[in-house]
Amino acid sequence: MPTLAVIGSQWGDEGKGKITDYLAEDADLVVRYQGGANAGHTIKVGEEVFALHLLPSGIIRENVISVVGNGLVIDCDELEVELEALRKTGRSGKGLRLSDRANVVMPYHRILDGAEEKARGSKTVGTTGRGIGPCYSDKIARAGIRIGDLLDEELLRDRIATIAPVKERFAESLGAELGLDQEALVAKLLSFGKKWEQYITDTSVLVNDAIKAGKKVMFEGAQGTMLDIDYGTYPYVTSSNCTSAGICTGVGVPPSAVGEVIGVTKAYTTRVGAGPFVSELTDEVGKHLQTKGGEFGTTTGRARRCGWLDLVVVRHAVRLNGMACIALTKLDVLNDLDTIKVCVAYDVDGKRVENFPSNVRHLERAKPIYEELDGWKSWEGSTAELCKRGYEALPQGMRSYIQYIERSTGVPAGIISVGKGRDETIDRRHKKW
Ligand code: IMP
Repeated sequence: MPTLAVIGSQWGDEGKGKITDYLAEDADLVVRYQGGANAGHTIKVGEEVFALHLLPSGIIRENVISVVGNGLVIDCDELEVELEALRKTGRSGKGLRLSDRANVVMPYHRILDGAEEKARGSKTVGTTGRGIGPCYSDKIARAGIRIGDLLDEELLRDRIATIAPVKERFAESLGAELGLDQEALVAKLLSFGKKWEQYITDTSVLVNDAIKAGKKVMFEGAQGTMLDIDYGTYPYVTSSNCTSAGICTGVGVPPSAVGEVIGVTKAYTTRVGAGPFVSELTDEVGKHLQTKGGEFGTTTGRARRCGWLDLVVVRHAVRLNGMACIALTKLDVLNDLDTIKVCVAYDVDGKRVENFPSNVRHLERAKPIYEELDGWKSWEGSTAELCKRGYEALPQGMRSYIQYIERSTGVPAGIISVGKGRDETIDRRHKKW
């Protein structure tokens, strides 16, 4: 089965952009299946740095078809800005395909995102403010606008006329004002439809046909397992299924179409926004990881909370997603620390807990149970040269750390990443696809 899925094992920001880009070299299609412009993927190619939010990572390779699946929520203004930025780099974006069933983030979704957060008082989720939750809520409540609607004026006008008054009343109840001009909204959305007509299609048919034809298809996850609406730290999660199960409903492919699942796992842990984080470090070491790791959000610029690697989280992710291996990223950020801790279990009210709890209050009380491992020193010379020499060239302490993680999670570290560049990667898998 020539399909791969690249999924985050933690709270997002694991380095999926780099790993997807690295694997996309051989891909025919790169397909996103959930999320929206809340995501932020950073990719470094030579001296160029791309910060993508909505567009799949494949878009920077002209020969790749980049699919935005039906499971996404699309902010039209954002998408246009990203396409413009891409064109400025000399790329055409001609490989883009948008699902006609994907939902549209409407301007009022952003306003409602802010108003709902305000209404939560001290219990905010810390959303990205991109209207993601309200848009997914409307999808489930059958009050969404879909990308295909932008090609059908009568349908669009009718949908907005039905939905707008309900939204106005809801906003009022939160003390917010939408100021909806239905005519202007319809006109704006129709103009996007016209601009993007060539990209809009039934992407389920496209992807299934490609798989049948033996093309190499990569499913690109956004956010991470711990932000999954069902299996993350609910309610401090995003509003979609980031796990591999989301691929089927978010693309329109059967479970048998999902081949190897690769779990991108940062060598330590970070999260943005509110919510429990058992192995969080609020001391100098946490600050060190934040500075050295450049842990500031691609989407919002917010500083990320940092902590030791939490293996309870990673084991949860390996099981839920059926990960065949992990891609271990940012190991270089741990260089030069004397010792490194890993969280192997939680202590909840005096009980040792090995599986990730569902109850947010238990999580808030959980204390990390750590094992301490030796650190290692940085290498001399270029990281790309080191990677050319392969796994055995890595410092002994780093290899011991990797082996510890492999033993604890039960899966191999198939890809090791020790820098931002494509050539700062060691691929230990037998084949790419
Ligand atoms: P929302 O997705 O904007 O509704 O935000 C819900 C939670 O998910 C917040 O804690 C956000 O900080 C977090 N979040 C959403 N997208 C990302 C991402 O791409 N990386 C990391 N955290 C994210």
